[in-house]
Amino acid sequence: MTAVPARGRGATALSAAPGGGSGAGGPGPVRADDPWRAAAAVLLGNWTGSSTVPSRTLYPHQWSWDSAFVAIGLRHLSPRRAQRELEMLLGAQWGDGRIPHIVFNPAVPHAAYFPGPDFWRSAGSGGAGSSAGTGTGAGARAGAPAHTQTSGLVQPPVHALAALLVHRADPAASARRGFLARVYPRLLAWHRYLTEDRDLGGGGLAAIVHPWESGMDNSPCWDGPLARIEPAPAASFHRADLDHGDPADRPTDLDYGRYVRLAADYRDAGYADAGVRHGFAVEDPCVNALLIASEEAMAEIAAELAAAGPAPAAAPGAHRERAARLTEALVARLWDAGAGIFRCRDLRTDRPVEEYSVAGLTPLLASGLPPAVAGALRNTLAGEHFRVGELPLVASYDLKGRAFDRTRYWRGPAWFNTAWLLERGLRRHGADGTADALRRAVLTGAAASGFAEYVDPLTGTGRGARDFSWTAALALDLAARDAAWPAARGAWPAAGPR
Ligand code: SER
Repeated sequence: MTAVPARGRGATALSAAPGGGSGAGGPGPVRADDPWRAAAAVLLGNWTGSSTVPSRTLYPHQWSWDSAFVAIGLRHLSPRRAQRELEMLLGAQWGDGRIPHIVFNPAVPHAAYFPGPDFWRSAGSGGAGSSAGTGTGAGARAGAPAHTQTSGLVQPPVHALAALLVHRADPAASARRGFLARVYPRLLAWHRYLTEDRDLGGGGLAAIVHPWESGMDNSPCWDGPLARIEPAPAASFHRADLDHGDPADRPTDLDYGRYVRLAADYRDAGYADAGVRHGFAVEDPCVNALLIASEEAMAEIAAELAAAGPAPAAAPGAHRERAARLTEALVARLWDAGAGIFRCRDLRTDRPVEEYSVAGLTPLLASGLPPAVAGALRNTLAGEHFRVGELPLVASYDLKGRAFDRTRYWRGPAWFNTAWLLERGLRRHGADGTADALRRAVLTGAAASGFAEYVDPLTGTGRGARDFSWTAALALDLAARDAAWPAARGAWPAAGPR
């Protein structure tokens, strides 16, 4: 697979889609007034044959939380392909249980993305193409696979939730293929890694050791913790992201230098979590909220497996207890009752980071959240910091914050994945009216922006990459609840790999 230019909206013919050889028997041209066919075309075009790239230009490999969101949308078009998406990612799991944040496609030129396989050196020189097992690279002690090059960081754990939703798209086919039985042990090991190896604060929550692990790379929440990090010299690396993105939208060179330093230090310590001094160690409410939502999903997966055959490795009740314990720890360690939002906790200072970030609203996903906390979050969402319902989607950062920037990546722009998470969380806590409004905003904004990576939080104007996979996937997922939905299934080729 080689990177291909992003395609325009409206007149794209599905049968011309690259990758996967899926063109045979494809439907006719996508019409501008048929956004769901267009969304399907984005996913078809970004499919590489075994997984989906977030963006053909900016992110030309497989990304962890992107793939989970992609699977959630893809299940409405091809449950089989959605299963494959997740299994491809889980196939790159490390021996210690971590699911890497990037799985590199060996067919993509190394210069297409930085930091690439040469930087992470997870599998050593015998990387791609060598036999399975643990490699000899920087990730060897942590059990990095020998057959695949990956990064050594992780991303937020949406995967068990995605696996459950993918299963539900076609339970009979999932059961026939043994999908849940195959992914469950891997998801179990992933959650063990997060709750044990990554409990760096000792308070029962998972910590991240790099801003990229939050998925919200340059959130203002990281300004304080990052300020302590000596940046890698600018001349020591070349940013590939600026070949595709507007520098005014992307993280600054100074931030990038710090990202590189942190990643290199982690690599040079063999990607060890215990017994090393992490320059950056933070408890993030979104990472932990997703862990809770995924533990709740694991309870349902375990129940499905128990009903179908021999008992799974953990009973549903054990997962529900873990979710409850995580929820208690989240409230105890990160809830700021005075501010009405969950904060990040900087483990180097053991202090909360006093910023309003969309990450702090996502604990609405936890079904066991105390009602008073859920109510306060709803008020914060509607209040001056986020103005839900009044503005398109939800800003990634405080509209009134000291660092608010409506164009720069995670410092203000509104993203579709966080809107999807909040829509789900609001519904979980009975706020159907606000959830309905957010759903409509996602459906309108995704299509109107050409499935933009993110939008200006004040105007809804698209920014960043277009034909962005999770934007298309999550809009499809919300659209699929509509009675008019079945028409969109016709956007998928009748023939070709499913
Ligand atoms: N989002 C980060 C990047 O810009 C890491 O995944 O590459």
